[in-house]
Amino acid sequence: MRFSVPTEAEIPESVRLGPPLHQREYLVGGVLVQWQGPLNDVFSPVSVKQADGTVSQRLMGSTPLLTTTESLQALDAAVKAWDLGRGPWPTMPVGDRIAHVERFLVAMRAKRSEVVKLLMWEIGKPLKDAEREFDRTVEYIVDTISALKDADRHATRFVHEQGIMGQVRRVPLGVALCMGPYNYPLNETFSTMFPALLMGNPVIFKPAKFGVLLVQPLLEAFRDCFPPGVVNVIYGRGRETVGALMESGKVDVLAFIGTNKGANDLKRLHPRPHRLKSVLGLDAKNIGIVMADADLDEAVKECALGTLTFNGQRCTAIKLVMVHRQLADAFVSRFVSQVESLKAGLPWESGVTLTALPEPGKTQYLQGLLADAQKHGAKVMNAQGGEVSGAAMTPAVLYPVTRDMRLWHEEQFGPLVPITVFDDEQQVIDAVVESPFGQQVSLFGKDAVKMGRVIDACAHQVGRINLNSQCQRGPDSFPFNGRKDSAEGTLSVTDALRVFSIRTVVAAKVTEKNKQVVRDILTGRHSAFLSTDYLL
Ligand code: G3H
Repeated sequence: MRFSVPTEAEIPESVRLGPPLHQREYLVGGVLVQWQGPLNDVFSPVSVKQADGTVSQRLMGSTPLLTTTESLQALDAAVKAWDLGRGPWPTMPVGDRIAHVERFLVAMRAKRSEVVKLLMWEIGKPLKDAEREFDRTVEYIVDTISALKDADRHATRFVHEQGIMGQVRRVPLGVALCMGPYNYPLNETFSTMFPALLMGNPVIFKPAKFGVLLVQPLLEAFRDCFPPGVVNVIYGRGRETVGALMESGKVDVLAFIGTNKGANDLKRLHPRPHRLKSVLGLDAKNIGIVMADADLDEAVKECALGTLTFNGQRCTAIKLVMVHRQLADAFVSRFVSQVESLKAGLPWESGVTLTALPEPGKTQYLQGLLADAQKHGAKVMNAQGGEVSGAAMTPAVLYPVTRDMRLWHEEQFGPLVPITVFDDEQQVIDAVVESPFGQQVSLFGKDAVKMGRVIDACAHQVGRINLNSQCQRGPDSFPFNGRKDSAEGTLSVTDALRVFSIRTVVAAKVTEKNKQVVRDILTGRHSAFLSTDYLL
């Protein structure tokens, strides 16, 4: 396996980066403000050979290192746009809010190639996957719009129950702080931010630690398509920027996809925790369970995809494989061949699945996990497994892995595949139960009785049990959540609209006098809430 290092001239023109993009603007209160302070350099994980023969990670540009002051200005703008729920955005008819988002979608689609290129370079995501991330995000927003129309149509009716009539509607919660992860910096942030916006919440958006520059081409569209203060985009170190927002107590919803430690630290800063609604996607250590009667080809293929797609940098990746002893040797040898057939290289090369890792220091961390596993008796089963070249690492298949090893417990979020054996499915159930995480499992096999037993045990531990396939989030209409330290709240196209809103009821005893009051409000259009306007 070889991670090649091109010269600038060897990079195809269609994917070549221009001169470094030194971004100074950030968006607060509908204004793109020019930052005069320090900037944070953005390097690609991809290394390039310079004219003098030296090799270095490509400098892509830089982003503003804002301080608490600018962060609090963004908060003030969002609080003003909210205006106790009476601002123009939260009170705007749903159809008009949708029109703003549709305008944004037109502008976003026009920036596809720019955003995809930055996404690919900044986190090393293979080009096809970067394109898929962009398209999936657009589709997600389109689907969210139709789900909202549907929900709003249902909300125009009145219910009559026990002599009381009522209209139940969902209203926004307030200022939402949206932060996503570096592995899906566009999709995972927009899939919380747009439901939040569509429900009427003003948003403060802080891009992930990597995958930051790709937001720059969209800043003007955010400014032009939304009223002032409805979308605010800030940059900088989390502690200074986001910490101050949480400490203010004025953030009403925290949408955060990251580590549970990060989420706990942020939630703790809020002075009135019960007023904060959290929507969290956190750590996971999904287990792939290969039963004795599993279809070996299928299990190997799905486990390879599940463990190593985008170098294992998916929250839904399979991060521990447990194989029944009867199949273990055959599984490991076929798995190794499958891994050795994967193509490593530059993210724009066709068929590439393995690329360099964006996190500085990540290969050292992974080498530490690998050395610890070897110290406790695991072997690297594939040729070159664990070899580091620049910011890239050749995947390492480690076998047999045991509970004594860090790799059994820690979420590697990288190209290390720990494989272990089991004799009885109770050992698998114990591993799932003992894990502090509970996002998903993959279960490979045929025996209905054994499969049923594992399914029933896992159903109370994880949010999704995948039969004979890898773990994954999609389709986006399915609930995406987790138990224990893996998540808080459920996301899906329809669920996200719910989590960013609360149901409020206007109720009255069914009397002639009350009917007349309600009728007068409706016909005179005196209330935005109490209304039977139907979204066509
Ligand atoms: O990193 C977490 C993503 O939501 C995973 O999504 O399963 O579609 O790759 P995916």
